[in-house]
Amino acid sequence: MIGKREMALILLNLKAYEQGIGEKAETLASIAGELAKSSGVRIVISPQATDIAAVSKIVETFAQHVDSAPLGAQTGSILPESAKAAGATGSLLNHAERQISDDDIKTGVARLKALEMESMVCASTPELAAKYAEYGPTYIAIEPPELIGSGVSVSTANPDIVTESIEKVKAVNPSVKVVCGAGISSGEDLRKAIELGSEGALAASAFVKADDPKAVLEDLVGGLK
Ligand code: G3P
Repeated sequence: MIGKREMALILLNLKAYEQGIGEKAETLASIAGELAKSSGVRIVISPQATDIAAVSKIVETFAQHVDSAPLGAQTGSILPESAKAAGATGSLLNHAERQISDDDIKTGVARLKALEMESMVCASTPELAAKYAEYGPTYIAIEPPELIGSGVSVSTANPDIVTESIEKVKAVNPSVKVVCGAGISSGEDLRKAIELGSEGALAASAFVKADDPKAVLEDLVGGLK
C-alpha cells in the first residue's frame, strides 16, 4: 500500500510576500524542487501569476487563483488556460485571501478538470468543505482564517475542524482529498495533520519568511517520515 509519505502533498503558497516574488520565487522553487527530488515527497509551489512560467520550469506549480472569465476579449483575467500554458498543473480556488462566488468555484473546478488540471478549493468551515466537495475538486483545503499567518498550527489549535471536514467531505465525495493549512510551521505540525487523516498541508509564512527556508522545508518533509 502506498505510504502516507508518497500520498501526501505539501503546497507552499508564496502569496504576495516580498521574499517570494520574481527571482526570489525561483530561489524558493529551487529549494522545493531539490527536496521534492531527494525526498520523493510531492511539493508544489504556488507563486504570483507572473512567476508561474519561471517557477514551473523548476518545480510543480499551482496558480494561486484562476478566473472563470471565458477566453476572448478579456482584460486582466488570469485564465486556467493561460495558467496551463505557463506550466501550472493546478490552481487554488477561493483562498481566504482571494474569495470567489460559489458559481465561480463550481465553474473553476469544472474548467480545470476539462484542462486536466488539479483544483484545490479552500474552505473555512467543515460545512463549506462539504458543499464545495459536491463540485468534485481534486482537493479541499480546510483553513480557518483566524489561524492563517498566526504560526499556530491548525492541526494543534483546532484538530476537530480537520477531522470534521474530512468526515463531511468523504461523506459527499470519497474521491476528494482533504488537506489542511494555517499556521503549519514544522514537521510536527504536518505529522499531526496526517495523523488526523489529511493528505497533506499548505504552508506559507513559515517557509517564505524564514531566514533558512530550506531548513524549514526539510523539517516539514521530516514530518512525513
Ligand atoms: O495557503 C496557505 C496559507 O493560507 C497558510 O498561511 O502563513 O499560516 O502558513 P500560513
